[in-house]
Amino acid sequence: MLKGKHIILGITGGIAAYKSASLLRLFIKAGAEVQVVMTPAAKEFITPVTLSALSGKPVVSEFFTANTGEWHSHVDLGLWADAMVIAPATASTIAKMAHGVADNMLVTTYLSAKAPVFVAPAMDLDMFAHPTTSRNLELLRSYGNRIIEPAAGELASHLIGKGRMEEPENIFKVLEAFFAGRDDLKGKKMLVTAGPTYEKIDPVRFIGNYSTGKMGYAIAEEAASRGAEVVLVSGPVDITPVNKSIRLVKVESAREMLAACEAEFPTCDYGVMCAAVADYAPAEYAESKIKRAGNEPPMIHLVKNPDIARTLGMKKRDGQKLAGFALETDHELDNAMAKLRSKNLDMIVLNSLRDKGAGFGTDTNKITIFTADGRETAFALKSKREVAADIIDTIITL
Ligand code: PMT
Repeated sequence: MLKGKHIILGITGGIAAYKSASLLRLFIKAGAEVQVVMTPAAKEFITPVTLSALSGKPVVSEFFTANTGEWHSHVDLGLWADAMVIAPATASTIAKMAHGVADNMLVTTYLSAKAPVFVAPAMDLDMFAHPTTSRNLELLRSYGNRIIEPAAGELASHLIGKGRMEEPENIFKVLEAFFAGRDDLKGKKMLVTAGPTYEKIDPVRFIGNYSTGKMGYAIAEEAASRGAEVVLVSGPVDITPVNKSIRLVKVESAREMLAACEAEFPTCDYGVMCAAVADYAPAEYAESKIKRAGNEPPMIHLVKNPDIARTLGMKKRDGQKLAGFALETDHELDNAMAKLRSKNLDMIVLNSLRDKGAGFGTDTNKITIFTADGRETAFALKSKREVAADIIDTIITL
């Protein structure tokens, strides 16, 4: 399961750091490519030489190599990884991660990581039981990070209690289980729409909305990383897909988006309509810039845009599954259910602008999924990548 996967192994300064060498060996033996990132304190507990010998790569610890000035890009590392594992994670690093204190290479890499993050705490029992640590771990959970609970047993202090880092074999099993489900879209094709549509008024103006494409692109990345052939039909946004296998079809207006979707959907197994499509477009396009003249403002007559989700919903054949989104500001449940039915969708993902951290432009989202067969699942606020995983985990059960 781990063959060819890119794993960042973050090591912090605790006695359990010696166990990281065993964990690293397990990853390498399973065929993963591992980049070790250590905090300066970790080097007091285990040497970079041991870890670079085991991983076959120089260990990264500082922002740049002092004698050459070579810069280590935490951004590139964050994009490279399929998973980041921090084992052991001390109370101090957990606190820094929870609050974004980016004063070392490990925490900056964590903040740049797009992949799922696994945290294996290791500390003395009183530190682990302290309300600060509990709250910080709760914060990490709310960001979608997975906490690998420490075990109870004899600690470095010789006290007995909870705080021992989980054994490397068990951490390895957690990662193995995580990647096990990751090729579950192999042989499947998925159409994803993302971003806003722009409906031109004149050469300088358009009707649009605040969608940045982050949610739709996260779905495309997640599906591609799970083996799907992905076609991403995107309105104008500033991001580009990281996974090179994603086929990007750029469009501007709702009509262009519809044409691209109608061309692709017949050969797809799944469609996820995440784009914020403008419901109306100007009836006429003014070839020249509309001038400010006279006292009366110009009238712009609008016409209804095609409903892309509904068009595909009405045409879908047996076996095809179609998911839509509902972006609401009020009467969330009723509106979402009405869209699920009227567009003939198999499921709808409700996000409300009333929820902090949800909707346009944020790196997080908070969703409830309703399926046509009557299931309703509410999820916590999570990173958009984690939300994408929840959406895909649900659509494949339909
Ligand atoms: O891009 P981000 O900044 O990350 O923000 C993400 C998001 C808020 C845009 C996303 O999570 C989201 O909610 N997307 C759907 C926004 C929307 O247009 O919702 P709606 O309730 O108006 O539309 C319902 C469904 O019909 C959607 O699946 C939409 O894609 C589809 N639709 C709507 C109108 C139309 N003319 N054609 C459509 O296909």
